[in-house]
Amino acid sequence: MRSIMVLRSILFFLLSTLTLFGQTRTVTELHRGWRFQKGNFKDAALPSFDDSNWEEVTVPHDWAIYGPFDKEIDKQTVAITQNGEQTATEKTGRTGSLPFTGTGWYRTNFEVPEYSEDKKVLLLFEGAMSEPQVYLNGKKIGEWAYGYSYFYFDITAFLKNGKNTLAVELSNKEFSSRWYPGAGLYRNVSLIVKDKQSIDQWGTFITTPIATQEEAKINIKTMVSGNNLKLITTVFDKAGNQITQDSTAVAYNNQFDQNLKVEKPNLWSPENPYLYTAVSRLYSGNELKDEVTTKFGIRSISYSAETGFQLNGETRKFKGVCLHHDLGPLGTAVNKAALRRQMKILKDLGCDAIRSSHNMPSFEQLELADEMGFMFLAESFDEWKKPKVENGYNRFFDEYAEKDVVNLVRATRNHPSIVMWSAGNEVPDQYGSAGVKRARWLQDLFHREDPTRPVTVGMDQVKNTMESGFGAILDIPGLNYRVHLYEDAYDKFPQGFILGSETASTVSSRGIYKFPVEKASMKQYPDFQSSSYDLEYCSWSNLPEDDFILQDDKPWVIGEFVWTGFDYLGEPTPYDKSWPSRSSYFGMIDLAGIPKDRYYLYRSRWNTQQETLHLLPHWNWEGREGEKTPVFVYTSYDSAELFINGKSQGIQTKNDATPQTRYRLMWNDVIYEPGTLKVVALDAKGNPVAEKEVKTAGKPYALKLNADRTTLNADGKDLSFVTVSVVDKVGNPCPTATNQLKFKVTGNGSYRAACNGDATSLELFHEPTMQLFSGKLVVLVQSDTKPGTIKLKVSGTNLKTAILDLNSASIN
Ligand code: GAL
Repeated sequence: MRSIMVLRSILFFLLSTLTLFGQTRTVTELHRGWRFQKGNFKDAALPSFDDSNWEEVTVPHDWAIYGPFDKEIDKQTVAITQNGEQTATEKTGRTGSLPFTGTGWYRTNFEVPEYSEDKKVLLLFEGAMSEPQVYLNGKKIGEWAYGYSYFYFDITAFLKNGKNTLAVELSNKEFSSRWYPGAGLYRNVSLIVKDKQSIDQWGTFITTPIATQEEAKINIKTMVSGNNLKLITTVFDKAGNQITQDSTAVAYNNQFDQNLKVEKPNLWSPENPYLYTAVSRLYSGNELKDEVTTKFGIRSISYSAETGFQLNGETRKFKGVCLHHDLGPLGTAVNKAALRRQMKILKDLGCDAIRSSHNMPSFEQLELADEMGFMFLAESFDEWKKPKVENGYNRFFDEYAEKDVVNLVRATRNHPSIVMWSAGNEVPDQYGSAGVKRARWLQDLFHREDPTRPVTVGMDQVKNTMESGFGAILDIPGLNYRVHLYEDAYDKFPQGFILGSETASTVSSRGIYKFPVEKASMKQYPDFQSSSYDLEYCSWSNLPEDDFILQDDKPWVIGEFVWTGFDYLGEPTPYDKSWPSRSSYFGMIDLAGIPKDRYYLYRSRWNTQQETLHLLPHWNWEGREGEKTPVFVYTSYDSAELFINGKSQGIQTKNDATPQTRYRLMWNDVIYEPGTLKVVALDAKGNPVAEKEVKTAGKPYALKLNADRTTLNADGKDLSFVTVSVVDKVGNPCPTATNQLKFKVTGNGSYRAACNGDATSLELFHEPTMQLFSGKLVVLVQSDTKPGTIKLKVSGTNLKTAILDLNSASIN
């Protein structure tokens, strides 16, 4: 006992010493040591409750992703009116068919050794799905409603010395979502311990009212608690050199307002994502009370009829994608390695912007957008007061809309990546005068919290919003689809420009091709797949080229956000009435993160730094010998010649005959014979400049493993994404292989999940076995907290087993 007390006093001495040297606040992620159980428990909030037989989990955690898939879960018998449906039909898979509905509890214990009388302790949730009820030591400390919001509570008054018991109850109703929302504490939870006299939570607001090549004016507003304080703000460049500093002791209504000048600033852009760091130090006399570090970028944005959207004074158009928040096989549990991989794939695509449809983005995603260079359209709601789904946000709008907008803006406004807010997506409030007022009220809220960024709403009822005034009041009129109404909207709306806030919604399944090849709306096939010839779309949507034409020919169109970058769980249009089908077909990239053909169509326009030359379909068509089998090429070149087994199929050149011929090279009359399909790209003079081949493969013979990263951080969270493919005896990829594979991970890591991108698969992601889909799948290997080597073994019947060596190290 005595030795414990001695230890304690040493610890306290150390802590107070640290405080003297500037360790003024501690932020502790509550990552480990949680217990979880699904169900209702009367006394689960009480410290005395016995949770020893509950599952041990780490947070972020998504309780529903472990399945099983079940068509009865959240089965919705509805008419989706925004899709033009008149009669109700049974929709399975709309929300992913995973068990996210119902109640679940999380419990953990923590201590706050650094606590003393003059401290304030906050408990921060970066998202909790949904309707969280939060208890500390048996007492309710607060609640929230929307599962996507960030929120925090001041828990100082509820804290005890020693062990504190935190319990969180979450519940998800049926008919509360239009996609898979996930379930549980799916984003970080953390404890912030700071001085009572300190910088407020999300109290720093950095803007750059002047940002030119020559100079920048950095304005920093800092909200604080306490009196007679002094704030010293220091700005550092990327290399850690001090650039400028300002000190002030004058606060107005507890807010300091500083302006700092930077000569010849390094301007932030997707091509040059340069970040500065501001360190805000708060003093009472000579005593350091608080210190907050904020990364920011120096950049200017403007939107006008004359010059469209400008970043740093240069007009550009958004090459953007819409993304839902789930990470495929990981569900919604946020993971930085998974997000980083997504964004690397998007970089290669040439994409420069992301819309967090239709809710608040994770902090991790915004940090990566700042660092890697993506502009961000940060969205808030899919519903206002009028319902789309019975138990959606409409239940919370009156009480929570303002609080949710305030938290969204305050928590994220220092990210240079955010160039626009969205107050909503296709809200039914587009109808009626009350909705117009609501739009204005919400936009004013965003402006009050952040006068520097404009606000949009993704509109689908375009005709109606032209008449009602809804579209006219928005800073940025965003059109979802409705390519035929762009001209009219440009004419009627006063802003002088239009954003394609949501475009395309073309559907396809990776590596699946259907014949005959034809344009079709809501096309369905018995195998519940969509064709990768990229000619199938929805009744309300269109093919990519219809958007390309507007983007290329109309200077007043300021860019597009394609629905979607990656496939996501839920919304399996056009198979929302078919089972099994549980995830989307909209992605340019499938649920496993493997690009579909469509990825290369966009890449051929968007990636202006590297060539694109992509051939489709695959060339394994046993049984189609002698039959018409069209060949498409997505390429950054204008012209190319196609060969089958050395025989020329002619030269195709992009031309204006149809929207498709303007952007694709198509050989529609090719007759299939096995062998080698080869495309040779030609320059303007007709000289060959690049080529690609696809070969008919023999029988599956061996497995090939290709990791996105081979050295992981030994933090227990990092992931390597290993693409598994099958090749024949001579190494040709087998594009139709469907072998069942098994996975085993040994060493200082573990098997985390697998995904094959098949929307109809009911195999569970966390089971160490899965069937290949179109010859591929992806395995996720997770690091331990102990550095070392990790071995992944992949095997399948009659296939040569493959082994991959990875390793992990302490990287920080
Ligand atoms: C839009 C909607 C999206 C998604 C998409 C599918 O109308 O905003 O959330 O449902 O359609 O095409």
